[in-house]
Amino acid sequence: MDTDALTDEVASRFADTPDARLKEIMTALVRHLHAFAREVRLGEDEWFRGIDFLTRTGQACDAKRQEFILLSDVLGLSMQTVAINAGRAADCTESTVFGPFHVPGAPHAEHGDDIARGARGSPCVVRGRVRGTRGEAVQGATIDVWQADDDGLYDVQKTGLDHAQARAVLHSRDDGSFEFRSIVPQPYPIPTDGPVGELLAATRRSAWRPAHLHFMIQAEGYERLITHVFRRGDPHLHDDPVFGVRRSLVADWAVQPDGTARLDFDFVLQQTTSRDLGA
Ligand code: BEZ
Ligand code: FE
Repeated sequence: MDTDALTDEVASRFADTPDARLKEIMTALVRHLHAFAREVRLGEDEWFRGIDFLTRTGQACDAKRQEFILLSDVLGLSMQTVAINAGRAADCTESTVFGPFHVPGAPHAEHGDDIARGARGSPCVVRGRVRGTRGEAVQGATIDVWQADDDGLYDVQKTGLDHAQARAVLHSRDDGSFEFRSIVPQPYPIPTDGPVGELLAATRRSAWRPAHLHFMIQAEGYERLITHVFRRGDPHLHDDPVFGVRRSLVADWAVQPDGTARLDFDFVLQQTTSRDLGA
């Protein structure tokens, strides 16, 4: 059988797709999938193992767990999509993966509040400013922040907890500034008790994410920013299993004379209009 002719025939079956974008995506998907199978000379037993792996990945998903996103993350597809869609302005804060542990509607915090609310960890203060690329303060930006505790767990992974821990929503002050107290992030492994964990083990890959603090920042007139701040010196910065680390996002939690660590980090948002004009 002519394998190239088969690829052409399958691709041509999408010729009448009314949605041009769907047609483009399906045609390219077929071409790349077939090329992949030819390149590795995929065995029928291997094809079946792949189907079994994907089936179990789907079965591991529920309302709280998204094993398919985790698979996309460890294959670098999530970060590739972030990179493809990143804004063009060089001086904006870089984006990174969203991750599965954001919870909409986290409790509102006032500046200076301790958002840890009982989560275990060394105390720290986080301060910074939200601004635009022309240096203008972005006031009233919604700052969603979330992180794991010293046990490497997000509050949603703990059973029996009746309140949010180590997550909050703040609004930047008139000068764009914000400030809250929390705990110093520590490295933690992504969930390894499912098919993605099997894949990491079989390929001798690390499951440990370098310590980080998640941010999602939104303000009228600006692109939404989804990012992390990573802790400088973390031994896992070079082999993040989800490829999220960007050098510009690595910062110090500097220890103060009173023993409290302090992170200072400013976020630069891209105006929606400037991106439209530049595109
Ligand atoms: C996280 O940082 O929360 C995360 C991101 C991707 C996969 C798993 C966890
Ligand atoms: Fe995380």
